[in-house]
Amino acid sequence: MKFGGLVAVSNVSFQVADGEIHALIGPNGAGKTTVLNMISGLYRPGKGSIIFNGQSIVGRSPHVIARLGIARTFQNIRIFEGLSILESIMVAQQVRTSVNLISTLLKTPGARQEERDIVKKATRALEFVGLSHRKEMDAINLPCGQKRLMEIARALATEPKLLLLDEPSAGLNEKETLDLVELIGQLSKQGMTVILIEHNMRLVMNISDRISVLDHGDKIAEGTPTEIQDNPKVIAAYLGTEKYHA
Ligand SMILES: Nc1ncnc2c1ncn2[C@@H]1O[C@H](COP(=O)(O)OP(=O)(O)OP(=O)(O)O)[C@@H](O)[C@H]1O
Ligand SMILES: [Mg+2]
Repeated sequence: MKFGGLVAVSNVSFQVADGEIHALIGPNGAGKTTVLNMISGLYRPGKGSIIFNGQSIVGRSPHVIARLGIARTFQNIRIFEGLSILESIMVAQQVRTSVNLISTLLKTPGARQEERDIVKKATRALEFVGLSHRKEMDAINLPCGQKRLMEIARALATEPKLLLLDEPSAGLNEKETLDLVELIGQLSKQGMTVILIEHNMRLVMNISDRISVLDHGDKIAEGTPTEIQDNPKVIAAYLGTEKYHA
């Protein structure tokens, strides 16, 4: 993946097994978010392949990829101004719905049923992250930690098979981070596959099945948390960066 003359990601190849929590770590600018952006269809790589459930998804548009069962959160939280928390979750589910605009406007029985389903799924996702008691609140007024949870709920409400999390613990306090670990663990137990970008090394080492390490757009290591902790290449890549707290 190039941006003008800058090669943001090259020589990165990894596989994520069904139900696995796979972490992507690496110093700032390593190319982690760019990898997620390619998987979710925001960027189209110049070369390479991305296979999801045996099907090539490289270059497909984000809504097609979302419909295939991939959902994500963003490193920089995106909030729709003027929407309640529940509405913010419902908006994301439109990728899944089949009823067309005319029947929505005419409020046909099909459209009404579909809307009830959307509300139900959104509510369930909010319950899962512990935010259902705040569903009527303006999303913009949530504290940062809860905005991150809302983003996860928004992704979950689309019922993905693969969840992409870009620095979900950024801006969370210690208690919220522990809750997040618990939540991701529960998702994993339910069979969800997760690709997780994280700078919080304790979190990464606790919950990941496997870790891929990127540096300057290349994958420099892959392995279990124990293997990665002791890898000299990984330690060298991180030396001098202030975000390394392992
Ligand atoms: N849309 C873009 N246009 C131009 N350059 C970009 C774009 N997106 C990313 N880059 C560049 O690509 C490189 C990789 O960026 P990326 O955001 O993927 O890093 P990252 O590993 O997610 O870093 P961080 O830990 O800081 O979030 C950086 O040099 C970045 O400046
Ligand atoms: Mg990033």
